[in-house]
Formats: sequence, C-alpha cells, structure tokens
Amino acid sequence: MYTLKDKNVVVTGGAGFIGSHLIDRLIKENPNRIVVIDNLFLGNDANLNEAKKSFPNLTIYHHNLADYENTKSIFEKEQIDVVFNLAVIPLPTSLQKPVFTFEENANTVLVVSELLRKKFYKSLIHFSSSEVYGSAEYTPMDENHPLNPCTPYAASKASGDHLVLSYVKTFGVDAAIVRPFNNFGPRQNRGKYAGIIPIVIQQALQGKPITINGDGCQTRDYIFVKDVADAAVKIFKEEKTRGKILNIASGEEISVNDLVKNILRILKLDIKIEHQAVRPGDVQRHFADISLAKKLIGFSPKSDIGGGLQETVEWYKNEFHK
Ligand SMILES: NC(=O)c1ccc[n+]([C@@H]2O[C@H](COP(=O)([O-])OP(=O)(O)OC[C@H]3O[C@@H](n4cnc5c(N)ncnc54)[C@H](O)[C@@H]3O)[C@@H](O)[C@H]2O)c1
Repeated sequence: MYTLKDKNVVVTGGAGFIGSHLIDRLIKENPNRIVVIDNLFLGNDANLNEAKKSFPNLTIYHHNLADYENTKSIFEKEQIDVVFNLAVIPLPTSLQKPVFTFEENANTVLVVSELLRKKFYKSLIHFSSSEVYGSAEYTPMDENHPLNPCTPYAASKASGDHLVLSYVKTFGVDAAIVRPFNNFGPRQNRGKYAGIIPIVIQQALQGKPITINGDGCQTRDYIFVKDVADAAVKIFKEEKTRGKILNIASGEEISVNDLVKNILRILKLDIKIEHQAVRPGDVQRHFADISLAKKLIGFSPKSDIGGGLQETVEWYKNEFHK
C-alpha cells in the first residue's frame, strides 16, 4: 500500500475543475506539500481558495507543463514524490485548433513521463478520458473496449495513455491511469468552452431557451467529481493498479435530454428546449463497466446523479448571483 502522508505532490492542471477537487481530497491524506502546475489556459486560482485556507503549504506555478526544462527545475526545487497529471487542452479547442491541442496534450504527457523515467519523482497517476473509446460498440464499456477517438482531443488523450503504458513496459516506471467518464460538479468552467451542465444552468437562470446539440438522445455516464477525486487517491494507494487503466464512472446511462430535464426540475423551471446541429465528433453512447475499479480499489460512487446534481445546481446558482 502506498501512502501520501508527508509526500510532496504535484497536481498538473490543479487550478481546473477536477484538479481543484482532487487537491481538496489530497489534503485529507496529510501530504507535506502540494504543488500546482497550471498555465491558466482554462483554470482559475479561485478554485483553490478553500484549499489554500486549510492547507497553507500549497504552491501554485503558472507555468506551461510542456516546457521540459522549467518543469524539471520545479521538480528539483520542490523534491517531488508523486504526480497527478490532469493538465489538458479541452475537447472544444481541438475542433478549432487541432494541431495546438494535439501537440500540447501529447507534449505534457511526454514531459511528465520523461521526468518519471529520469527519477525526478517516483509515481505517476495519469488522467485519461472516456472520449478515447468513441461511441460504444458494446455496453457496458470495459477497459478492453476498442479505442476509436472521434476528435483530435480524444486522439491526443489516447496517445497520452499509450505513451504512459509504453514507459511502464519499457522502463518499468511506477504509473497507473484513471479513465473518468463525464464529470459533473461545482467549479466546472462556465465561460469559454463550458460543458453542458454549466451552460444549461446559466441559460435556465437567464430565462433563455435551452440549447442541445443534436436530438439529445446521445447518452453519457455521469460521475460526480468528488467521487473521481476519491478514486484517483485510491488508485495511487493500491499497488495492484500499476500499469493498468481503470474506468471511473457511475455505471449508469442517461440521455442528454433527461439530464436537462433533471436540471430544470431541480431549478423548478419550465423552459423551451431548442435542438441545434450535431457537434462534430460527438459520441452517441457512453455507458461504463466499472467492475475493474470495484475489484482493485473497492470503488463505489457515493453520489448518484440526483444528489450530485442538486449540489451542482446550488453551487452555480450562487456563482451566477455573485
Ligand atoms: N471534465 C470531464 O468530464 C473529464 C472527463 C474525463 C476525463 N477528464 C480528464 O480529466 C483531466 C482534468 O480535466 P478537467 O475537466 O478538470 O479540465 P480543466 O480544463 O478544468 O482543467 C485542466 C487544467 O489544465 C490546465 N492546463 C492546460 N494545459 C496546460 C499546460 N500545458 N500546462 C499547465 N497547465 C495546463 C488548464 O489551465 C486547466 O486548469 C483532464 O486530463 C481531462 O482529460 C475530464
């Protein structure tokens, strides 16, 4: 069993949505130091306000992880033991800037992999994405489901996973991969490149029609962000996860139409829904098999979509009224 107690931990992309929740969860493990590397492409230091209050030994570097020499200097200075690698350029950017997205996402994984190989730290927990699977060829989708990336983003995520696993096989490095399905929860970016949940809440609160790409029958497996943060910590602690990829999801399927209906029900609003053109590369069906995570780390999501969504909607209501 690995421990985070007294360890120096890097969270790349730590000012982002999942990264900031992961930091809240890591603090409970009593690490010595938490170091965030985030160039604020999409992240926001305000996501770390609560963490900074409860854990003063939190250092934030506004730095591009893809810059090998500067990243190496941070690792030397901070004497890092463990990396949780979440930095990413998001899917919507890849539809407009495919070269930039692919290069940045591939290069950041290359940098953390190289630093691991060269022993600048000891263990890597890398974040993949269910997007690497493309639309389900069978359900529920286990980790052996074929990879069929439908966007340059998904291709960049798949390349990162292959790279990490190749380093495990070739160089024997200590690494495991978390493969989350769609996350939801407080602090998901609500500005440029926002996801559907913040967009729908914002449209509803402004009394605007709700816009859905396509017919809304596309399905997703939504998982509450705090359950993902907890799973990532458990994956680090359990040595049987090394060299493996673990799906982290709820194991339940919901259509985008039903998700929107749930949000409107929580908000007690009845608003017109408008269907727009299908988003290029949009996945039709996602529904995860989470039995490997159950077996290896005893994973069992604490929040269902109802409970987690209520907390999420409340959080955005407060944010939009600030
Ligand atoms: N949100 C989801 O539903 C979801 C689902 C599956 C997998 N994931 C994966 O989880 C991880 C975190 O995703 P998120 O939703 O929190 O995204 P996010 O955009 O909120 O966070 C990513 C962070 O990475 C930072 N970043 C981007 N490029 C960087 C670079 N070159 N150097 C330093 N920082 C950089 C951004 O500023 C941002 O704060 C990603 O690896 C993503 O692929 C997310």
